[in-house]
Amino acid sequence: MRKKVTFIGAGHVGATAAMRVAELDLADIILIGGIHEGMSAGKALDMAEASPMEKHHSRIAGYTNDYWDVEGSDIIVISSGVARRPGMSRNDLLSTNKEIVRVIVEKAAELAPEAIVIMVTNPLDAMCHVALEVSGFPKHRVIGMAGVLDSARFATFIAMELKVSVENICAFVLGGHGDTMVPLPRYTCVAGVPVTELMSTQQLEAIVDRTRNGGSEIVGLLKTGSAYYAPACAVKEMVEAILKDKRKIMPCSVYLEGEYGINGLFVGVPVKLGCRGVEEIVQVGLTEQEQEDLEKSADSVRKMVNVLNGINLRSTGKHGTGKKKEVPVFKEKTKKTSAVLRG
Ligand code: LAC
Repeated sequence: MRKKVTFIGAGHVGATAAMRVAELDLADIILIGGIHEGMSAGKALDMAEASPMEKHHSRIAGYTNDYWDVEGSDIIVISSGVARRPGMSRNDLLSTNKEIVRVIVEKAAELAPEAIVIMVTNPLDAMCHVALEVSGFPKHRVIGMAGVLDSARFATFIAMELKVSVENICAFVLGGHGDTMVPLPRYTCVAGVPVTELMSTQQLEAIVDRTRNGGSEIVGLLKTGSAYYAPACAVKEMVEAILKDKRKIMPCSVYLEGEYGINGLFVGVPVKLGCRGVEEIVQVGLTEQEQEDLEKSADSVRKMVNVLNGINLRSTGKHGTGKKKEVPVFKEKTKKTSAVLRG
């Protein structure tokens, strides 16, 4: 039987990631969300119509608020929520997205209790906490997408600077998905050669800084939303590693219980991704400075989680911005209305 990957959130990130995963030809795709009836069904049909050219056999269906097809999903990718606009930090999205994610995860966990959740909604590390708590899933099945994207940005800037193929770069970024993330030049190689031997400290510092602000740079250019092509590719990489049980080492936001000296917090570290989700947290040696930077990054996640814990949305009935329509409302079980019916 084919695997099933569900994307909750049919905006630019969710839909682009769904298309990339469909092209892998490894799973059927469910796309849920959209600002009006027909949006997800339309996107799903559009993607299905690309399949004769892309030569994949993934069945793709889209629904607006009809969550019943989440049932039995192997992987659920959550990208629902409001995105950043210029001048906003990821943290500005905290209260609104907390409520959106809470509602979605509650429903999704009920319908697909064995699924692996990949969180994309920002602020990423904090939203992973919401997903872990609300789902009750074991920690190896709640994973945040950030390090793969941040490392890809780091690699892109290094390749641009050195004028070499991006394929030569193996880059590593740790920490929370925010301005305090920790790109690690010492563990970053160009065709096996440490990048520190190929660039001056000033060149590297500029690239590290650009990587930390990579998301904001795109938001500043787009003006009406945040990045989606590279985030979607990062999701595809993670889904592929899981579906193919690759045991590929990738930096992901995972729940740490003592690893790297951090306890009870989602922070980006290298993990082995395989069919069970996080197969292993890989611990690498850090210098005093790197450890200090990682702890500083973890502190910024901790601050967000503390704020999160102070927001008792359920009892106040408030949704951050006060716009109730942003929080999904589920339909009762209905006859499937998607343009593409699953067999
Ligand atoms: C970014 C968003 C996905 O970094 O957080 O572009």
